[in-house]
Amino acid sequence: MAGRRTWLVLTGVVAMAMVASLMSACAGRDRPVAVAAGTTENATQKANREAAGKATPGPWGYSGASGYTHYLGQGIGRSPVQPVRFPHPVHVNTLQMNCVFCHFAAFKSPDPGLPALTSCMGCHAITAIDRPEVKKLAEAYNKRQPIPWVRVHKLPEYVQFTHVRHIYAGITCQTCHGQVQNMTQVFQYASLNMGWCVSCHVNGYSRAEGMRAAGYAPDSAAMADEQAGIRKTASYDCSNCHH
Ligand code: HEC
Ligand code: HEC
Ligand code: HEC
Ligand code: HEC
Ligand code: HEC
Repeated sequence: MAGRRTWLVLTGVVAMAMVASLMSACAGRDRPVAVAAGTTENATQKANREAAGKATPGPWGYSGASGYTHYLGQGIGRSPVQPVRFPHPVHVNTLQMNCVFCHFAAFKSPDPGLPALTSCMGCHAITAIDRPEVKKLAEAYNKRQPIPWVRVHKLPEYVQFTHVRHIYAGITCQTCHGQVQNMTQVFQYASLNMGWCVSCHVNGYSRAEGMRAAGYAPDSAAMADEQAGIRKTASYDCSNCHH
């Protein structure tokens, strides 16, 4: 079992090295975080919200407001309490696991999806099994039930968005999701509104900025692109995102 655990951790490290340049950071906060009227926030949500407010706006910062912000009850800062208190910082920062170790579908399908319990049990059949939050995993696993994770990010159905195109373009997860590796409870970092999408497509993405936003130093290729003023742009035809 120890061998298996080592293998899993090593797989994570290798994957990390392979896609290190893909998992940089977060850049585009475009609005101050607000808590929707009539909702209450817990201490974790409050801490996340305050930390989020300190991030600097990226070059595609845009404040195009739309009704969409309330699609799931709240826009930026939305941070539902999850059925299992899953700590990203432990797994990403301490254990050095790559984002796509768990969200592996991000490379293959339009939707990264939430991790299957089997990917947790590789470790948690033996690791930290005495902890109440980890016991919930074993209970669900034994009953063959998935953990009912509460979705944080959601676009309206009439919008076409695929992760894979963005990830292959080298955009770091944190550009759009913030520094998830430091979030004790995941929150929505960017507005996800149309102005936000179009602003990046028109102004273009800078890999160096994306890496800084993720909390990594840009590599030499990204620095060279930045010095040459190279930004990756995309189409802003309506039919690109709506068909
Ligand atoms: C060990 C597995 C694991 C790793 C590694 C991991 N995540 Fe997650 N992620 C989860 C789980 C479980 C959830 C659902 C529970 C939660 O929100 O905390 C989740 C939720 C999320 C969500 C919210 C999804 C939604 O509902 O909209 C985002 C965004 C996310 N992760 C991004 C990342 C990023 C970026 C990284 C790398 C910095 C990362 N994750 C690394 C397991 C993982
Ligand atoms: C260009 C911006 C962008 C980038 C880059 C990005 N995401 Fe997302 N992510 C989104 C948007 C927008 C949604 C909501 C999608 C929807 O509702 O169709 C989302 C949703 C998610 C979800 C929840 C969706 C689900 O299937 O349940 C997870 C998990 C997630 N992203 C993880 C990641 C990870 C991991 C990376 C890096 C490998 C990443 N994202 C990179 C914009 C982005
Ligand atoms: C590579 C091995 C590995 C994988 C895969 C893994 N974890 Fe963990 N997890 C750990 C380790 C190690 C700790 C830290 C235990 C400690 O504090 O000593 C931990 C801690 C936790 C904790 C906090 C326990 C506490 O202290 O309350 C939770 C909850 C958790 N993991 C859930 C998950 C979930 C859900 C998944 C799948 C999405 C997952 N883990 C995947 C190794 C892993
Ligand atoms: C941080 C910058 C950034 C953000 C934010 C962003 N995109 Fe993109 N998007 C890109 C880049 C760069 C490409 C081009 C990828 C390529 O050339 O393969 C792209 C490609 C696309 C494509 C495929 C385009 C094609 O020509 O086939 C679609 C669809 C798309 N984005 C939709 C969206 C939607 C919807 C949103 C908002 C929810 C969004 N994007 C947010 C940078 C971004
Ligand atoms: C890069 C992706 C992208 C492009 C290009 C784009 N949209 Fe959108 N659009 C979105 C997203 C994401 C939403 C949902 C979020 C929102 O309402 O802001 C949206 C929402 C809308 C809505 C509903 C707004 C509301 O408040 O309910 C309309 C109408 C719309 N778009 C029309 C257009 C037209 C017309 C064009 C071309 C000029 C266009 N869109 C180009 C991404 C895009």
